[in-house]
Amino acid sequence: MNGLDVPRIRSHFDFPAAGRVVTNNAASTQPPRELVELFRRLAPWYENVHRGQSAASRRTTAMFEASYDTIAAWLNAPSRRSVTMFRNTTEAINAVMYSLLTEFRDGDNVVSTLLEHNSNYVPWHGLCREILPRLGRRVELRLARFDADGRLDLDHLASLVDERTKLVCCTGASNFFGSKPDLAKVREIADAGGYPQPTGERRALLLVDAAQLAPTSALDVRALDVDYLAFSFHKMLAPFGVGVLYAKEHLLDHAMPFLYGGDMIAEGRVTAESVAWNDLPWKFTAGTPNILGTIVSAQALRLLVDLVLPTSFFGGAGPLPRVAVEEVMARIGRHTADLTARCMAGLRSNSHLVTYGPERRTPLVAFNIEGLSPFAVAEALDRRGVEARAGCHCATLAHQALGLDPPASCRLSFALYNTVEDVDRAVEAVREIAGGYSAISDLARLRG
Ligand SMILES: Cc1ncc(COP(=O)(O)O)c(C=O)c1O
Repeated sequence: MNGLDVPRIRSHFDFPAAGRVVTNNAASTQPPRELVELFRRLAPWYENVHRGQSAASRRTTAMFEASYDTIAAWLNAPSRRSVTMFRNTTEAINAVMYSLLTEFRDGDNVVSTLLEHNSNYVPWHGLCREILPRLGRRVELRLARFDADGRLDLDHLASLVDERTKLVCCTGASNFFGSKPDLAKVREIADAGGYPQPTGERRALLLVDAAQLAPTSALDVRALDVDYLAFSFHKMLAPFGVGVLYAKEHLLDHAMPFLYGGDMIAEGRVTAESVAWNDLPWKFTAGTPNILGTIVSAQALRLLVDLVLPTSFFGGAGPLPRVAVEEVMARIGRHTADLTARCMAGLRSNSHLVTYGPERRTPLVAFNIEGLSPFAVAEALDRRGVEARAGCHCATLAHQALGLDPPASCRLSFALYNTVEDVDRAVEAVREIAGGYSAISDLARLRG
């Protein structure tokens, strides 16, 4: 089999037994039973890390540190020194913002896009409109447009980048349109600016928000040549609470810490006059970290491979071969793309419905039914057993750019465990809701 054995995959989860049609996966995915049980399996050796000489502490520390290796391998990062952990994508992006804060010079600019989730817009708005002005520095925030299909306008992006562009912040995939900017082109555009960074490089730094890209694509941070890349594990089968920031090692070395405190300092090297930072990546691990969450999140990646291939990486700490990661993500990508194409075809057969975004997309479809509130649609879907999300999905800028009033849509989104039946049930439920509406409006038209 070179696709997915979906029934086998589903047998690892509890939600099917509850009869749920889980089609809100772009918000968060479901946790497989093994990961929930892993918390309990870790309990006998429960201890803090880097803070004890007991066998339990050494064992937990080894597992915690090995988690960074798994994540580095998943991203094809050179080593764990480039991997830092936060609560989620949002906190990871804020960490970049705060650690670069002092480097911005009066007259610099940050270039981002109208496709961004608020996590990759509001921190830069805060930096440029709130924080730096109070420090007497003017830094402009420029936003690149998208086209009629929700694809990033690369020419417009290029026109915004100049020699004062310190940073380009771009989504890897829009959580509203599902469109995926060509990151190689975005890198070229960021390079062309030629900004003189304090590290000696002459180009804009590139930060990619991969929250919607990571769940269905193999990410290769070296091939992408990104400076920063963030994603959240709760969209990749792990329980809530852990996000990753990959950053190039020399940038982390050079950067100010994001948070100050215990464990991020070199052991014993704190005096009344000076403080020395710990080695990477621990320089970015201030205070007791989310130890169990980190271990379980890294194991989620190993389990993901086992769910798709006949392997047994889960529970171990050995190297994760690149070919396995690529194969697994290619299969997940194909399966979820098929479901998404089926969903779009089904929805588009309805003349009272508009879908947003291009053909080639991540596994989500946002839509509106003419004359109906997307919130009412999501609630009506829920009454029919189909889980959806209504709102702006934190892609407020894009909803506003489309002139949607209220700035909202209803969204269905798929993961590796979804079936063709899930899609058909969702499409049928939408058809009923839209049909009910059109019958009423046709009647009103006849009467009127
Ligand atoms: C594109 C994108 N960026 C960032 C986020 C924020 O992720 P988190 O809530 O885990 O910080 C999301 C979550 O929906 C997202 O879709």
